Amino acid sequence: MTSKNMEFNLVWLILAAMAGAYVFLFGFLKQINEWHYVIRLGRKKHSSLPPGDMGWPFIGNMISFFRAFRSRDPDSFINNLVHRYGRTGIYKTSLFGNPSVIVCSPELSRKILTDDERFEAGYPSSLMKLFGRKSFLGITKSEHRRLRKLLAAPINGHEALSMYIRCIEDIMISSLEEWANNTSPIEYVTEWKKISFRVITKLFTGSADFMSESMIEQYGLVFRGAFSLLPVDVPGFLFHRALKARKILVNGIQSHLDERRYRNGDDPNIEKAMIDLLLEAKDNDGEKLEDELIINILLGFLLAGHETTAQVAVWLTIYLHDHPEILQAVKEEQEEIVKRRPSSQKGLTLNEIRQMEYTSKAINETFRISGIPWAIFRKAKNDVKLDGFTIPKGWKVMVWIRGFHKDSEIYPNPNEFLPSRWDNHTPKSGCFMPFGAGSRTCPGGDLAKLEFSIFIHYFLLNYRFERINPKSPVKFPAATPTDNCVARISKLP
Ligand code: HEM
Repeated sequence: MTSKNMEFNLVWLILAAMAGAYVFLFGFLKQINEWHYVIRLGRKKHSSLPPGDMGWPFIGNMISFFRAFRSRDPDSFINNLVHRYGRTGIYKTSLFGNPSVIVCSPELSRKILTDDERFEAGYPSSLMKLFGRKSFLGITKSEHRRLRKLLAAPINGHEALSMYIRCIEDIMISSLEEWANNTSPIEYVTEWKKISFRVITKLFTGSADFMSESMIEQYGLVFRGAFSLLPVDVPGFLFHRALKARKILVNGIQSHLDERRYRNGDDPNIEKAMIDLLLEAKDNDGEKLEDELIINILLGFLLAGHETTAQVAVWLTIYLHDHPEILQAVKEEQEEIVKRRPSSQKGLTLNEIRQMEYTSKAINETFRISGIPWAIFRKAKNDVKLDGFTIPKGWKVMVWIRGFHKDSEIYPNPNEFLPSRWDNHTPKSGCFMPFGAGSRTCPGGDLAKLEFSIFIHYFLLNYRFERINPKSPVKFPAATPTDNCVARISKLP
């Protein structure tokens, strides 16, 4: 053998050894989570786990999960599981530091969300720390039931909500005017957060301006921090900044609480808001609620009540403007309402809002197609058997509602924005759950729909909307355009 040949063989040998070491290490590392979480459950349990892949040590499948969200196709994470393991509708994985199952079948999802005996709220620990130990997600079942009854009744059902129409209308009209008077384009996402924040703070605290707009930024940090890739409380990390933001919000709410308590004592005839219901409420032992509980409840409602609403409103606007014929049909419906209105009437009535049939289909279609919120989190209280699969005690369950909202077997052409698909269509049980199901069903669904209906009315009748970067990609976890939907709003001639 010539020395040239020998050199050549040696290079091949080294390359083969490196490839072998890589494959061995890769295979070994990939098995660690499987051993750690799965094998130790024992043969009987582990053989009945849903199919799937537990990912890498420590990070699980977070990288591919985040990558899917940062791509233009957040569903690719689930589609990949379906492609690899078939349409079982339930897959094992490891996300947000926990062994988990992802559920994307409507029947299973409904079973899980309505089963309080075997499942409890199971949001990532980062979110729980930011929402507080005594938040709606952390309190006992009986406390949760009692406080929900107290707070959900005044914001549920159109009758109860009709008293807020004027207030929401004022906020919408003045915001639209302000945007149109702006000579430069606005960040539509940021502006919508301000609107929904003003509505929710007015309802809950009695004042639309109780917190400065910088508070919305603090809320934004808490929201993003709740789903941090690395939830470590170390300067420089998002989670650290989110915890600091939480402190600022807690202090702001505490000051408002003190002021409100003082003013209520001073003037018992003051217009009541949710905060007053909480101040007057008593716990199971007949004691007044602790400030910590009231603050965490308010913090949760103010966050849940404005972030998601703003995200959906942004997509509703985008979808309508991307489909001029649908936009025209919605606009005509609004024009008809104005035509039928007696000249003496000022502003929208509840009856008129009820007549917005096509608009309401466009809103439903936005809920379905926007994929917001992308998941609901639960935790198995014990080993649970579902459709022949075991969900082990302590494992998290991510109910992937955006999955079945875009399932082509349930919604043909699922990526098409088609409000007419809701003509005479009542979805089968569990197939449409933008507000969840069971004892934690969103208490703010009717309020959000009311906000959208009022907004659409004034917006389409009087303004034009033009996006500056229509191809801007989508960001996680807000699922809104990365440029915050920079847009120009102008008054129609
Ligand atoms: C487009 C708007 C909205 C969407 C899509 C939405 C969606 C949801 C979903 C899916 C849940 C269920 C979470 C679970 O089961 O763990 C939920 C819970 C919740 N939502 Fe909403 N929501 C919206 C607007 C609002 C508004 C306006 C409020 C404020 C009044 C609100 C307050 C809450 C609260 C407090 C919870 C927790 C309920 C509980 O744990 O009992 N949401 N929301």
